[in-house]
Amino acid sequence: MLRRRKQQQGSMNNMTTIKPQNKEEMSTRHGGASDSLRLVQNRRFTYKELEMITNGFERVLAQGGFGRVYDGFLEDGTQVAVKLRSHSSKQGVNEFLTEAQILNRIHHKNLVTMIGYCKDGEYMALVYEYMSQGTLQEHIAGSDRSLPWRQRLRIALEYAQGLEYLHKGCNPPLIHRDVKATNILLNARLEAKIADFGLSKAFNNHDGNYVSTNTIVGTPGYVDPEYQATVQPTTKSDVYSFGVVLLELVTGKPALLSEMEPMNIIHWVRQRLARGNMEDVVDVRMHGGCNVNVVSKVAEIALNCTALASAQRPTMADVVVQLQECMELDEGRTRDFNTDDSNNDDSSWNYNAYASGQSTDVSRNAAFGTELRMPTVGLRLAPTTR
Ligand SMILES: Nc1ncnc2c1ncn2[C@@H]1O[C@H](COP(=O)(O)OP(=O)(O)O)[C@@H](O)[C@H]1O
Ligand SMILES: [Mg+2]
Repeated sequence: MLRRRKQQQGSMNNMTTIKPQNKEEMSTRHGGASDSLRLVQNRRFTYKELEMITNGFERVLAQGGFGRVYDGFLEDGTQVAVKLRSHSSKQGVNEFLTEAQILNRIHHKNLVTMIGYCKDGEYMALVYEYMSQGTLQEHIAGSDRSLPWRQRLRIALEYAQGLEYLHKGCNPPLIHRDVKATNILLNARLEAKIADFGLSKAFNNHDGNYVSTNTIVGTPGYVDPEYQATVQPTTKSDVYSFGVVLLELVTGKPALLSEMEPMNIIHWVRQRLARGNMEDVVDVRMHGGCNVNVVSKVAEIALNCTALASAQRPTMADVVVQLQECMELDEGRTRDFNTDDSNNDDSSWNYNAYASGQSTDVSRNAAFGTELRMPTVGLRLAPTTR
């Protein structure tokens, strides 16, 4: 995928490009999925224009749950990604509208920018800034290349800042509800931006803590067990999922592992930390390039984020502060895995003290164990392909 993206970048020869039209009036209102696209402020494209932008839908960047995402160029040469809703997509018009309205309303350096949309008869599409380095997932899972630790930490901080903005900087606040490694996109400078707002929900009830829904949404491996039990997503549900992504960054492993038997990454990490060795947990592809104290702190933040009880989890604002501290520590002094300095206890990979408290909680809690091994039973978990 990454290789294909690279090849595609330089190939816009003779492509006809068009000027988007019908820019609509600004609106400050945020509507739910039932509101119409009249509220969308961005440029409106016709289907024919999209055909021209994408050179006849020539180059597919990705196949998502919504439909295919195509590579394209505007008339000024700006590269864009065009997400065209497939008629066979199970993800409905409401999700399309939700994403269009949210991205139209809110803007932040760590949210993907929507340039425009298309609602042309049966055709629906969203046009975004092009994120040339693909998803975080591709970098975590890719065997041929691997992100250095400092870059992982920066991505984690940027992701956290984007989520903090959704939770604290938006009015009403937003719960993303599908935080995961495939919904974080990286641009050419490897800056991280949150994507895929189709499942996002505004919460503006009186106590500001939760929204009522009757369906569990999200992706197996990332879904907050408390949300599964209560069917009430909170901002802490996003915090939980973010903790899973942090663990993916530390370990280089996916949210759900299929080694001997399927296992959640949280359980996998806690099991190894309980044995007392941080080195067992860290992605081997980073060896030689990470600071032991910083990696340990990030793992600790991740495990706090994935605490069973949401009340014990930090807020995204807390997480941002903690990751900023980690960043400063990392930039200040780097002690890599290969340095042999057994006199320095502070930098030891032994992780017993931390692991004992955390892992005891896990093993005592049957519900947690169930959640770790089995993604939602008896509840509709949708969508899994996003
Ligand atoms: N702006 C973009 N630039 C590059 N690739 C993108 C962009 N937006 C989406 N993609 C690709 O398309 C995939 C699906 O997009 P996403 O917004 O997550 O929709 P969904 O998962 O609902 O189908 C992403 O995982 C990514 O690979
Ligand atoms: Mg997605």
